[in-house]
Amino acid sequence: MTTWTEPGPVMPVIVLDDPGLAVDLAHALVAGGIRHLEVTLRTAAALGAIRRIRDAVPQALVGAGTVLDARQWRQACDAGALFGVSPGWSDELAHAAVDRGLPFLPGVATASEAMRAMRDGFTLLKLFPAEAVGGRALLRALHGPLPAARFCPTGGIGAHNAADYLALPNVVCVGGSWLAPADALAARDWMRIEALARDAAALPASTAV
Ligand code: 3PG
Repeated sequence: MTTWTEPGPVMPVIVLDDPGLAVDLAHALVAGGIRHLEVTLRTAAALGAIRRIRDAVPQALVGAGTVLDARQWRQACDAGALFGVSPGWSDELAHAAVDRGLPFLPGVATASEAMRAMRDGFTLLKLFPAEAVGGRALLRALHGPLPAARFCPTGGIGAHNAADYLALPNVVCVGGSWLAPADALAARDWMRIEALARDAAALPASTAV
């Protein structure tokens, strides 16, 4: 299966150095109304964090982000990831993602890359790094020639511009690290993270189908 299960308006991009924070963080985000959580494989703590969230927070739908190759995707699946996200795309990842049958968001930045990921069977794509590669203007321009493509733009998106992205007809959700800021994690400020999640969950839902 390469389709996606109705994410909320915002997918938090989570970078954790301490797997011991994972469960409290997931509880705070879920309490604020955000269920899809992308834990990036950028730290040694990531796989343990995914495992802990799967075990302890059944209301959360935890996935792995920054999946760069097939080995990482296998490890993430074995840790319990329910979906995957990559900043880019390759034959290796396409085979691995199709093989596991879980939802996967290929990363794309151009029409050619989007065409390739769609040829591989994926229609929900991570536009990355969204603001740097053209942001909303690029998404509007891609909608004409690629009307079936749906996007989760990520990179440079925050509370200030998320609603503008979500108003586009080809944007299903946006991704961003602003829901789990490093200073709030270090301070274990779960109330602040829950409040950020609540604001994000209250954003106008995407109208993309
Ligand atoms: C990602 O990994 O998807 C991005 O680095 C997140 O970008 P942001 O920090 O600008 O939200």
